[in-house]
Amino acid sequence: MSIRFEPCRREDLARVTTMERASYPADEAASAVSLEMRQREAGEFFMVARAVDSMDSSGEGARASDASGTAATERAALDADARSIVGYVCGTLASGDVLDESTMSSHDPSGDVLAIHSVCVDERFRRRGVAASALAHYVARWIVHDDTQHENDDDTTTTTTTKVRRVRLLCKENLIPFYERYGGFALEGASAVEHGAETWFDMVLDLA
Ligand SMILES: CC(C)(COP(=O)(O)OP(=O)(O)OC[C@H]1O[C@@H](n2cnc3c(N)ncnc32)[C@H](O)[C@@H]1OP(=O)(O)O)[C@@H](O)C(=O)NCCC(=O)NCCS
Repeated sequence: MSIRFEPCRREDLARVTTMERASYPADEAASAVSLEMRQREAGEFFMVARAVDSMDSSGEGARASDASGTAATERAALDADARSIVGYVCGTLASGDVLDESTMSSHDPSGDVLAIHSVCVDERFRRRGVAASALAHYVARWIVHDDTQHENDDDTTTTTTTKVRRVRLLCKENLIPFYERYGGFALEGASAVEHGAETWFDMVLDLA
């Protein structure tokens, strides 16, 4: 499945909200109001992933659909959902360097710490690398390479500048390797945040 990443539009919010509710326990899922605030105020940090090709490029699905009208209808619906949204990543800016309940529920446009609130993939499209590529793409957006030719210097020096100095997120223990491997994050330790029943871990990625 090939994926295209785009900023989340207002009309995408209904599907995003449904996916958020289906993917997180009730005491962890962001509310529709919260997701709306993130899209409205921090839209450039809210990215959705859409499939650009069919769910089944092998032709097996098409053959199966010939045998059953129901299968064909289900496949068409799945394809339509995939082309709509298969997953999303959203975050907001904070000026402080500690993630707490307030940084999770607000956006400070002058902040330089990007707090990721959700990395989510529709359960029908999981374990196909969607989250891995979404995370890598999301993080790479904030690294700006600036090739500078210095005066009296034969060398071109590459420096990295970005409006986002640091990316932070909280995750559960099982996903620590995922964030390390696909986002380049480092584990800081257990977080003091209590959000739902389980322990959360602070992960950090320095960009500047
Ligand atoms: C977690 C989630 C985003 C993973 O999405 P996905 O598209 O299935 O992930 P990928 O297929 O890109 O997998 C990438 C890697 O993460 C691993 N991984 C995926 N889901 C995992 C899980 N639940 N627990 C541990 N590792 C997991 C995969 O094994 C893979 O590792 P590998 O390359 O070493 O084999 C998805 O299961 C989800 O939306 N869950 C509900 C929301 C959630 O909990 N989000 C995380 C908030 S911190």
